Amino acid sequence: MYDFKIDTADKAEAWRQIVAAADSLTQGEPDAVANMANVAALLFESLAELNWAGFYRNVYGELVLGPFQGRAACIRIPFGKGVCGAAAATLEPQLVDDVDAFPGHIACDSASRSELVVPLVHGGELVAVIDLDSPRKGRFDAGDLAGCLELARLLAPRLGAGSNASSEALKMS
Ligand code: SME
Repeated sequence: MYDFKIDTADKAEAWRQIVAAADSLTQGEPDAVANMANVAALLFESLAELNWAGFYRNVYGELVLGPFQGRAACIRIPFGKGVCGAAAATLEPQLVDDVDAFPGHIACDSASRSELVVPLVHGGELVAVIDLDSPRKGRFDAGDLAGCLELARLLAPRLGAGSNASSEALKMS
């Protein structure tokens, strides 16, 4: 059993503990789905005021829903569409205080008011994006962005097998 309790009010410290927990959950595990599933659960349990936390994977140049916690969500997002698509197209994180003010925002869950999306890049290629949604406007700040970037740096090399690789196998079958 894993029992990570991240209950500090210090945001930098909370993110440090989240990254450390993600490290121990994914270290030595080559299966991308398992790693994304555990990290989505960790984020959803550890961060306050979230209604969705999870991954969209780069599957042949399109974002496809990956492991997440929250309500059932849009399955495919083209690069350039919505907040996730903007992060995928630019490889730049997107910190959106008010999703209603973001042109083309995709409302998977109408409760979402703010969003943080961070691309996971490995070997110059987009592997996936981490998507965090909150029902509170302005929920995410520079501290969340810094923490999530650190998490992305850790995870990007650990999401190889089982992501595009399993899609390749399906395509060939
Ligand atoms: N709101 C996102 C879509 C994904 S859901 O929030 C889970 C977007 O605009 O890209």
